[in-house]
Amino acid sequence: MRRPILAANWKMHKTCAEAQAFAESFLPLVAHANAVDVVIAPPFTTLSALADALRASQVHLAAQNVNPEEKGAFTGEIAPGMLEALGCSYTIVGHSERRALYGEQDDFIAAKAAALLARNIRPIVCVGETLDEREASRTFDVVGGQLTGSLASIPADRAEEVVVAYEPVWAIGTGKTATPEMAQEVHAFIREHLGKQLGAAAEAIRIQYGGSVKPDNVDALMAQTDIDGALVGGASLEPETFARIVNFE
Ligand code: PGA
Repeated sequence: MRRPILAANWKMHKTCAEAQAFAESFLPLVAHANAVDVVIAPPFTTLSALADALRASQVHLAAQNVNPEEKGAFTGEIAPGMLEALGCSYTIVGHSERRALYGEQDDFIAAKAAALLARNIRPIVCVGETLDEREASRTFDVVGGQLTGSLASIPADRAEEVVVAYEPVWAIGTGKTATPEMAQEVHAFIREHLGKQLGAAAEAIRIQYGGSVKPDNVDALMAQTDIDGALVGGASLEPETFARIVNFE
């Protein structure tokens, strides 16, 4: 009952011309992927060009970040309404790189998620533990705390629109994937936590796994009960590789 969602997080990669070339190769490869949601999150500078390139397709456009304010003196920031005007239907918030490199905290992430929903943009809310936290058996504590904080401002009647991405920090960009069983264990914990926090919507909320998802591990990950999709960095930059992930078996 949960529609799979495969999302590309391009991070700080690709110009407009490179994004257009990607779309040209990629779209024919996923033309029959009608049973899943496909999402691409390019850099802000590329959103407009990619929106044009995706217009005739089913592929959704996403941003990688947003500021919760609608407008004002926030140099360098981008407002939810600006993303809405470009046709973004999803936006990533709370990615571990933003938490670690730019000091983003749960309350700021919660404000972003709520501001996105107010513009009918679905937030992809990222959570995940570091290697130190996992080795200290703190995974559930850390992930539970991030969920409580980052989803604190979601109205119960909009909860189903939220996507959660579980991305163990130690698996991002390292080539080390969580085994399907390790990932499932945390996804099951997340769903249980969402049930306590948001009620019945938890059964409908999609939970993506992220962290070195590749063509050769996506099938086993997607076979797990509580894994409803993938958030893909490195392997989303090549059309053939991301298409193989979208067309998982
Ligand atoms: P990766 O990145 O697939 O390159 O590990 C995933 C992410 O950070 O979203």
